[in-house]
Amino acid sequence: MSTKKSAAKPVKRAATQPVTAKDNFKSMLIENRVFKPSAEFSKKARISSMAQYKRMHAESIKTPDKFWAREASELFWQKKWKKVLEWKAPFAKWFVGGSINVSENCVDRHLTNGRKNKAAIIWEGEPGDSRTLTYQQLHHEVCKFANVLKSHGVKPKDRVLIYMPMVPEAAIAMLACARIGATHSVVFGGFSSESIKDRLHDCQAKIVVTADGGYRRGSLVALKKNVDEALRDSASVERVIVLQRTKQEVTMQDGRDFWWHTECSKVSAACPAKGFDSEHPLYILYTSGSTGKPKGILHTAGGYLTGTYCTSKYVFDLRDDDIYWCTADIGWVTGHSYIVYGPLANGATVVMYEGAPNWPEPDRFWDIIARLRVTILYTAPTAIRAFIKWGDEWVKKHDLSSLRLLGSVGEPINPEAWMWYHKMIGGGRCPIVDTFWQTETGAIMISPLPGATPTKPGTATLPFFGIDAAILDEDGKEVGPDQGGKLVVRKPWPSMLRTIFGDTERYKSAYWGTYKGIYLAGDGARRDKDGNFWIVGRLDDVLNVSGHRLGTAEVESALVSHEAVAEAAVVGRPDEIKGQAVVAFVTVKEGYKTDAELIKALKAHVGKVIGAIAKPDDIRFTGALPKTRSGKIMRRLLKEVVSGGLVKGDTSTMEDLSVLAQLAASNGKDDE
Ligand code: WT7
Repeated sequence: MSTKKSAAKPVKRAATQPVTAKDNFKSMLIENRVFKPSAEFSKKARISSMAQYKRMHAESIKTPDKFWAREASELFWQKKWKKVLEWKAPFAKWFVGGSINVSENCVDRHLTNGRKNKAAIIWEGEPGDSRTLTYQQLHHEVCKFANVLKSHGVKPKDRVLIYMPMVPEAAIAMLACARIGATHSVVFGGFSSESIKDRLHDCQAKIVVTADGGYRRGSLVALKKNVDEALRDSASVERVIVLQRTKQEVTMQDGRDFWWHTECSKVSAACPAKGFDSEHPLYILYTSGSTGKPKGILHTAGGYLTGTYCTSKYVFDLRDDDIYWCTADIGWVTGHSYIVYGPLANGATVVMYEGAPNWPEPDRFWDIIARLRVTILYTAPTAIRAFIKWGDEWVKKHDLSSLRLLGSVGEPINPEAWMWYHKMIGGGRCPIVDTFWQTETGAIMISPLPGATPTKPGTATLPFFGIDAAILDEDGKEVGPDQGGKLVVRKPWPSMLRTIFGDTERYKSAYWGTYKGIYLAGDGARRDKDGNFWIVGRLDDVLNVSGHRLGTAEVESALVSHEAVAEAAVVGRPDEIKGQAVVAFVTVKEGYKTDAELIKALKAHVGKVIGAIAKPDDIRFTGALPKTRSGKIMRRLLKEVVSGGLVKGDTSTMEDLSVLAQLAASNGKDDE
């Protein structure tokens, strides 16, 4: 491992005592239970012991070029690179001079390596319909749609916005873009038309790919309608391609809107995969930061594919006979890296499910696993907590014996949920890989390797190969065991973001502005005496709601855009299911009544501006917000108020102390 031995002594603590970091974030309880992979699992795994992991990790840190070059050469390059890495901090170029086609690697490569008739995607729609696409069939569909895009004038580096339900065509559209060198930007199907509009405007997409609608918890989602609204005053979009999924009524605008199936019937199925520069932009994915405007995270072809390919292979220890299911939506980075690019580059069989986990009953997941004989399940703590709440009887109805490995992603998994996942879903026999990573990192950064790493409930354990993760204090010094600090990565890695689309200054300041040449993840963390990383939460104004990042500033600006609102401050409150719930403190303009009616209207308004996921759980009206003398809202105090805690700490910089008392008095939920 890469850690330099620190002089600081480990702090001795009782088993249940919380560790409090210097800057006042609380970490989880010290966890002493250790789960080692079974001898049987280890025997078959690629990485089968800690000694092997440690040796390979040390090598990969000492000579990263050698490690990554070996991994990259397992992919197909139309032209080999000249140099593995060119690092002019904070700008990296990986596999310089190399030429690659991402789509060819995820699809065509498997037509000649024995996987031609293997299932690439096994899809199930929410109403119960299903489809299986072999690699050969996937190839056919991807080539056709690539030709459709071309026939509508899409050129390399043009941006294509994809706003789709969880259907195979979402993956097909992504792979078709990759095939012709267009840059996709997938917008989560749960986002509102306003969100589409902002993203469209930022990335200047030329074409939008959508569907008439999708199914979610038994109802229809009006995707095309949302696109229509978003396009009302868009200058960049020339075409909209619409997949027919639900057959709900939609308006098609002559000359602008075209049906997917009609267009596909007009083109040939031959679309040779041309090589693109390794640093060719593959996609932009928007994610929340600490200001109101989402950041367009840019990933490029060669490095991103190497990272997702390699992590999928080792972290899930993917095998040809695996039935692999990642339950994320394709609209998030997890869907990009671990439904589409990573697993398909490995030639895996991927399960894709369209709808809600509790439709028609809360056992839909277990039913799918039992029927399809899923072997690897990769899901999120928020889902696990919901399953716990819905009751064990739903799980017990099904035979989950096909499972051999479980994964978790999106937020720290609380030990209780970990244990339930381990026992109830994994039958006590499946290793759990708790994978820490981010939209920005492109691929998994910290995670157990299932055949090697002893796991403890709640820790993502150790850095992946080539990842030089550390925890630093304010002065940039590495902290000792069990001391809190900032999580950083000290060396570049192939799947790292290259920039924020259109905002290089923000890229530099958000990720590289704190420590010179070192990547700042934005999470607080500590390492235990065994070197395991415990992520304890974001250090910036970013909430983690159901495993999804939400900027407090985004929700605030949505609230303030309502006519009744003068000012708003948003903070997170710990929530049993969602991890964090959204609490909004709102001051209203003169003449507006602070009643249940307004609360309802404001929630709906945020849903309309951003999407249902951002709707505040609580809205509290207040006469004023606590502020520093310079006018900054004191979120720390608000957080303490919503967590039910007393207001402690230094309040001398507050503008109006009485404001706090008023807020504390308003403590209590405002239900709709
Ligand atoms: C943030 C990134 C990575 C795909 C999904 C979210 C939190 C993510 C873990 C984990 C503790 C985690 C962090 C991170 N996070 N995985 N295993 N343990 N925290 O991607 O939307 O870019 O969010 O999610 O806070 O910074 P994202």
